[in-house]
Amino acid sequence: MRVAIYPGSFDPVTLGHWDLIQRAGRLVDRLVVAVLYNPAKTCAFSVAERVDFLRELLADTPHVEIATFHGLLVDYAKQQEAHFIVRGVRAFSDFEYEFQMALMNRKLAPDLETVFLMPKEEYSVVSSRMVREVGAMGGDISGLVPEMLVERIASRLLNPAQLG
Ligand code: PNS
Repeated sequence: MRVAIYPGSFDPVTLGHWDLIQRAGRLVDRLVVAVLYNPAKTCAFSVAERVDFLRELLADTPHVEIATFHGLLVDYAKQQEAHFIVRGVRAFSDFEYEFQMALMNRKLAPDLETVFLMPKEEYSVVSSRMVREVGAMGGDISGLVPEMLVERIASRLLNPAQLG
């Protein structure tokens, strides 16, 4: 049984994340999409909202689970008996950060491999940060986040006071 963890902030989930989840899901028997719970980091969406979005999106994807974690990713991966970590790289600009993270994780857990996947090229400029910025200014975020979530994400970004 091949198990992978796809960790991230997912603040909020984008079409790029969705694309990666589908790609990774085809490679493993069990994929755990793990949302980082980090009280020290200010996010636009609460962990509960981010998890809800993922649950809705992945309702029909049987071998993909949604979870939250805090602390070290490698500890959580061990707990889940994962064989590898999945991360997405869109462009060279992602490389430095991903490279450092992968090597640090390897130092902490030498048997845990990080596997990089590339999303569809049309998603190479899509990021949660862009979604937050465009959405907060009333711009159109369709084509950036999954269709079924566009309205909810857009209205929340326009009403940050509702932050849960
Ligand atoms: O979506 P993001 O914000 O790029 O995801 C970053 C994430 C959650 C993968 C990373 O911050 C993480 O793994 N945090 C857990 C803490 C940890 O394990 N740090 C040591 C490795 S750098």
